[in-house]
Amino acid sequence: MPCHNDAPLGVFDSGVGGLSILREIRALLPQERLIYLADQAHLPYGEQSAADIVRYSRAATDFFCAQGVKLMVVACNTATSAALPILRQTYPDLAFVGLEPPVRPAARDSRTGVIGVLATPITTEGERLASLVERFADGVRVIRRPCPSLVTLAERGGPWTPADYAQIASLLADLNAENVDQVVLGCTHFTFVAPLIQAALPAAQLVDPAPAVARRVQNLLAEAGRLASADCAGGLRYLTTGDPARLASQIQHLLGEAAPTEGLALDF
Ligand code: DGL
Repeated sequence: MPCHNDAPLGVFDSGVGGLSILREIRALLPQERLIYLADQAHLPYGEQSAADIVRYSRAATDFFCAQGVKLMVVACNTATSAALPILRQTYPDLAFVGLEPPVRPAARDSRTGVIGVLATPITTEGERLASLVERFADGVRVIRRPCPSLVTLAERGGPWTPADYAQIASLLADLNAENVDQVVLGCTHFTFVAPLIQAALPAAQLVDPAPAVARRVQNLLAEAGRLASADCAGGLRYLTTGDPARLASQIQHLLGEAAPTEGLALDF
């Protein structure tokens, strides 16, 4: 039987954070073709205006539409919070999967009744998180902590120095004192700095949404009858609006693979 349903999936983030999502999708669905787009020319998103983030996200979506993608993963909590409702309205025929801080499992599993949400300022202050807390964290205290410096660290990459550990320990120290036992990784970049977060909060469990996002992609494609068939070969393209050589070295460092990367000029 020939390979069918092999239109690609688009995975979008401001930088390398979405690679944590891409890695899970690839492990679960190796027969899918994936296009990863990092908008590193505009990084970081977390402290920019919602209007700018909408503009960047629309340009990325236009690009993916031109590539004929069957689904787009907005692998960025910040862009999901600021732009996903508008993207869904603007591109009604495209399937989207967004990223939301996994407040629900964290609240459910908390024994101390205090959870932390680490994210960018756009996400911690956004309506989307407020609504998640209201719906799923009844009776649980939720400490929202904007951590833009963790994005910078994740983009820089390890090896982590004692100064990095000290910086994150002091950023998060009060969460220990507050008895936080579940810590939501509310920014896709934070998967790559998880060792620093865990060292700062040794008693807490980190809650990473990446595996659940990959399952959501699988379910949506299955429901739509659009999963690539088992004999499709898969494939991967990495693009950045920033420096392709830098992205290649980040991929080598974060995913342990030597991959070709392409520069992309988008009309923002
Ligand atoms: N990776 C993005 C997120 O999940 C944010 C990083 C940035 O500030 O650009 O929120």
